[in-house]
Amino acid sequence: MKILVTGGAGFIGSAFIRMVIGETDWRVVNLDKLTYAGNLENLADVEHDARYRFVEGDIGDEALAGALMSGEKPDAIVHFAAESHVDRSILSPEPVIRTNLHGTFTLLEAARKNRLGRFVHVSTDEVYGSLPAPLEADESFPLNPSSPYSASKAGSDLLARSYFTTYRLPVVITRASNNYGPYQFPEKLIPLMIANALEDRPLPVYGDGMQVRDWLYVDDHCRGILEVLQKGREGEIYNIGGNRSLPNLEVVRQVLALAGKPESLIGYVTDRPGHDRRYALSSEKLTRETGWRPVMDFATGLARTIEWYRAHAAWVAHVRSGEYRAYYEKNYDTARWCAEPRT
Ligand code: NAD
Ligand code: TYD
Repeated sequence: MKILVTGGAGFIGSAFIRMVIGETDWRVVNLDKLTYAGNLENLADVEHDARYRFVEGDIGDEALAGALMSGEKPDAIVHFAAESHVDRSILSPEPVIRTNLHGTFTLLEAARKNRLGRFVHVSTDEVYGSLPAPLEADESFPLNPSSPYSASKAGSDLLARSYFTTYRLPVVITRASNNYGPYQFPEKLIPLMIANALEDRPLPVYGDGMQVRDWLYVDDHCRGILEVLQKGREGEIYNIGGNRSLPNLEVVRQVLALAGKPESLIGYVTDRPGHDRRYALSSEKLTRETGWRPVMDFATGLARTIEWYRAHAAWVAHVRSGEYRAYYEKNYDTARWCAEPRT
C-alpha cells in the first residue's frame, strides 16, 4: 500500500504519518507547501525512513499533482492540506479559498484523471455550523457554515462528494471535531493557552468564554481516519468526535490548573465576529460500521499535551518567531483586553 498525504507537515497530518510509518508497512508520499503551519520538525521521527518521501509543493499546482499521481501511483490519497484557522480566515480569506477550495479541486481532478483507488477528504464539524443544545449533528445534517474557513471546507466537501456522484471517484469524507495534542500550532485554543500559561502571559478568552467545543485527541482522530481509509464506504461521510463537550472557559481553567498557574492569567478579549456558539456531533455511524471510538480521556490527553509543550520549549519558540508575532498583534489588539467576561 502506498498513500499520498497532503498537508503532512501540519499538526494532524504529521501525527497521521508518524502513525502510519510506525504501525504499518505502507509507503507515504507527503505533499506539503510548508506554509507558516507546516513544519518539517514535526516529521523528524520518520524523515530517514525508506518508506517516507517528502515533496514540497502546492496542492493547487496542477502539473505537480498530476505528476505525483501518475509517477508515484498511490493507492489512495488522504487530503489534510488546508488553511485551517478560523481567525486567520477572518483576517485574510484569500489563501483560505485558494487552498481549501481550488486546491481541493486540483487534487480531485488529478485523482479522477489518474483513476485513484480512494480519496479521503479530511473535513470538520464546523461545516454544520452552530447547534443549540442538545442537538448533535449526524452526517445528514444540513451544512450551515459561518466563517470563510468553515464555508471553504463545506464547499470542498460538496465538491468532493460531487466527484463521487458524477465521476464515481471513490471519495470518502471525514468530519472531525476540535483536535488537540502535541505539535499543534499555538494559534488554536489549547496550544495557545498552554504556551501562554507556561510563560505567565495572559490567556485571551473570546467574549464570555461559554462557547462549546467537542475535544478529540489527535491520535484518536488519526485512528478514525485509518478506519475510514480501509473500511469506509465510497461516497459516504463519517463524523469523528471526541465525545467530550466543554465550554472554552472550562478548558482554559483546566489548562491553568494542570500547568500550576493562577486563574488571574485569564483575560477577556472582544469576541470573534460570527463566532459559533456550540459544535456537537455524533460519531455513531463510524462506531457502528468500524468499531472505532475515542479512547483518550480529556484530562489525561490535556496533561500529556501540556507536558509535551513544557518539554518542547525550543519547538514553541521556533514556531512563534517571525510571522507569528505580527499575526498575534493583529488578532489580539492589546486595546481589546479586559478583566471581565465580554457579553
Ligand atoms: P495545520 O494548519 O496544522 O496544517 C496544515 C498543513 O497544510 C500545513 O503543513 C501546511 O503547510 C499545509 N498546506 C497549507 N496550504 C497548502 C497548500 N496550498 N499546498 C500544500 N500544503 C499546504 O492543520 P491541521 O490542524 O493539521 O488540519 C489538517 C486538516 O484537518 C485540515 O483540512 C483541517 O480543515 C482539518 N481539521 C482540523 C481540525 C483541528 O482541530 N485542527 C479539526 C477537524 C478537521
Ligand atoms: P479554535 O481553536 O480557533 O477552533 P475553532 O474556532 O475552529 O473551533 O477555537 C476554539 C474555541 O476557542 C472557539 O470557540 C474560539 C475560542 N478561542 C478563544 O476564546 N481564544 C483564542 O485565543 C482562540 C484561538 C480561540
